[in-house]
Amino acid sequence: MNASWSFPRLIAHRGGGRLAPENTLAGMRCAVEHGYRAVEFDVKLSADGHPYLLHDDDLDRTTDGYGPARLKAWDELARLDAGAWLSPEFAGEPLPDLATIATYCREHGLWANVEIKPCPGREEETGRVVAEAVAQLWAGQEDKVLLSSFADTALAAAQQAAPQLARGMLFEALPADWAAVAARLACVSVHVDGDWLSEEQAAAIRACGYRLLVYTVNEPNAALRLFGWGADGLFTDALPQLARYG
Ligand code: G3P
Ligand code: MG
Repeated sequence: MNASWSFPRLIAHRGGGRLAPENTLAGMRCAVEHGYRAVEFDVKLSADGHPYLLHDDDLDRTTDGYGPARLKAWDELARLDAGAWLSPEFAGEPLPDLATIATYCREHGLWANVEIKPCPGREEETGRVVAEAVAQLWAGQEDKVLLSSFADTALAAAQQAAPQLARGMLFEALPADWAAVAARLACVSVHVDGDWLSEEQAAAIRACGYRLLVYTVNEPNAALRLFGWGADGLFTDALPQLARYG
């Protein structure tokens, strides 16, 4: 088990969970306002290779743009509205780049789980570029950042580019070869969908020496059960409801 682990137990999912537009600066502010000390967000590359925050492969759900995000250069993406889809209150909120969010996290002492979320076909490049950027942006505060990805090729590229950064492997249901994947990528943590996780699997992850992070946990009873199983951290969209369990 990694003795230097300092990640807070509660992690605000996509920044502000349900309360603010996901993967925006407004979301990170919302996390801080609710007393959260850690945030998770999704990072991909623009067509011209700039790391920025977005969850989906397409722009339609969370911006006023449309179509595949992989086709847009950063100067086009930076002009989109990424807040009005949730509420008029957030109209004009831009898609942030990774550097903007890194500055905010550092200024506010936030721990960051940078989820590498490549557009299809760009796994290796995204892992490498994001890891290089994170290494620069969090220089001197590497203990406050954790890389993760569902894409093992992205995480392998991140490992090669910045081996000093902590890595977590993300799974939905835990696959049979999870331990081999986590070992190959020298992960410190394994991140699993709480809907699929069993108590036995939680125990196995901990017994193999990995930190266990679980997403997305919005009910207090589920949080208590998972902490009882040894979870080291929970990602939540229900910021006010879970704040007291941090
Ligand atoms: O990193 C945990 C969680 O964010 C993974 O799922 O789809 O919300 O990025 P998703
Ligand atoms: Mg995510």
